[in-house]
Amino acid sequence: MDYEILYKTLIGLFVASTLAIVVSKLRGKKLRLPPGPLPVPIFGNWLQIGDDLNHRNLSDLARRFGEVLLLRMGQRNLVVVSSPELAREVLHTQGVEFGSRTRNVVFDIFTGKGQDMVFTVYGDHWRKMRRIMTVPFFTNKVVQQYRYGWEYEIGRVVEDVRANPKAATDGIVLRQKLQLMMYNNMYRIMFDRRFESEDDPLFVKLKALNGERSRLAQSFEYNYGDFIPILRPFLRGYLKICKEVKERRLQLFKDYFLEDRKKLVSTKGSESVNNGQLKCAIDHILDAVKKGEINEDNVLYIVENINVAAIETTLWSIEWAIAELVNHPHIQQKLRDELDTVLGKGTQITEPDTYKLPYLQAVIKETLRLRMAIPLLVPHMNLQEAKLKSFDIPAESKILVNAWWLANNPDHWTRPEEFRPERFLEEESKVEPNGNDFRYLPFGVGRRSCPGIILALPILGITVGRLVQNFELLPPKGMEKLDTTEKGGQFSLHILKHSTIVAKPREV
Ligand code: HEM
Repeated sequence: MDYEILYKTLIGLFVASTLAIVVSKLRGKKLRLPPGPLPVPIFGNWLQIGDDLNHRNLSDLARRFGEVLLLRMGQRNLVVVSSPELAREVLHTQGVEFGSRTRNVVFDIFTGKGQDMVFTVYGDHWRKMRRIMTVPFFTNKVVQQYRYGWEYEIGRVVEDVRANPKAATDGIVLRQKLQLMMYNNMYRIMFDRRFESEDDPLFVKLKALNGERSRLAQSFEYNYGDFIPILRPFLRGYLKICKEVKERRLQLFKDYFLEDRKKLVSTKGSESVNNGQLKCAIDHILDAVKKGEINEDNVLYIVENINVAAIETTLWSIEWAIAELVNHPHIQQKLRDELDTVLGKGTQITEPDTYKLPYLQAVIKETLRLRMAIPLLVPHMNLQEAKLKSFDIPAESKILVNAWWLANNPDHWTRPEEFRPERFLEEESKVEPNGNDFRYLPFGVGRRSCPGIILALPILGITVGRLVQNFELLPPKGMEKLDTTEKGGQFSLHILKHSTIVAKPREV
């Protein structure tokens, strides 16, 4: 590190913070801020709290400071909301006021400063993107159009695993096959495309770039430059890598998917496209470009959003469900019994069946409760100064709703630390994942809630159902349980180890 630059930076930092204190005193406006640990100059609470603002650490803070608390992370205000009442306030009652998103320096790069949908502020651009994406992605018609494809993909996974004798003895890393399946489920919708195998060079490239994007964006490594802007020059190397990954990734989407699709549509003619035979999501999105509603960059950012928001989240949830079922064999058996009784042994579950299987639904709900893929939701933001209870929330605060704590707080749930699907058939039988109860928000609720819930739930049902119907899922020899250590990121939660799982085929 160049010590002269560091020295000058620290002097600059000192002068800037002194000036900020003087200016705020002169302005004289006294805000009634939410409680929180005592901040120190420049760093705020950063040195006390550290980088890892995960759902469990934030739950501990909620126990100390209450349902709304403020953390000063360098220059940033971070407000943590931890009660169903205040979640309702942020996501529903004041949904417009708190309906924007914060982006940090890294998300600015990956989303072209909010040219996408997920990370754009609440306003006209967001409304337009959400409208344009609804018909091609987020309706029951899409589910009915693509469910046969999803059933085919999990069928292929089952066939592959059955064909591999090692799966029944030493075990395999099931995740790799499920990852290919999830890409195929989504690339069918987006581009009417699929990848034949895990070794397909295009799939390998795509997976690597998406993986890099997620790692770079979810890491805590760059917090210092985000919290203390004057330290940003030290992030130059990190941000350069982010820019390179972003460019290569968008170029890949463009060259190998978007342009290919345009060519295909132009050779087949718009006739067949308009018949609906060929129309996939990107055709609808390109219609919006033709009408001048969005530009081609927006199209690439839509593809970027789906790659992250749809594929990873659903895959993580499937992995968690499998891990819990392996670690709770009696629950796995109970689910298998339900599938055999309701569908008949040997009848492979399809999408319409998922609604006839209450225990399967309960297993999925319980997985999403205990192992929420996005436990703090995607950070919200208030563009203007706002109020929560009697507290003032400074403009442009990052608002984290600790949805995991809402669903795991022992004051509101019976023995929440247990994986017990029965709760959703007994004391919590009225609770649904669509946000009908503010204690349970795995997909958020309100304006910025997850529109992909309509796809995610049937995919989860078909996938978990087929695996349990076809295999007895066990930990590898010599292990009693799978390791379920969590790995959190800026706002993601997945299983740390992609475990080997023994899949013993059942006679069907
Ligand atoms: C199990 C799977 C999934 C989970 C747990 C999940 C969860 C979430 C959560 C918690 C949010 C943020 C809500 C908020 O900030 O208030 C979100 C946003 C979003 N999700 Fe999902 N999601 C899943 C699957 C999907 C799928 C399959 C798609 C697309 C096909 C999708 C697309 C989106 C989009 C576009 C947003 C941003 C909405 C906005 O900002 O207006 N998600 N998701």
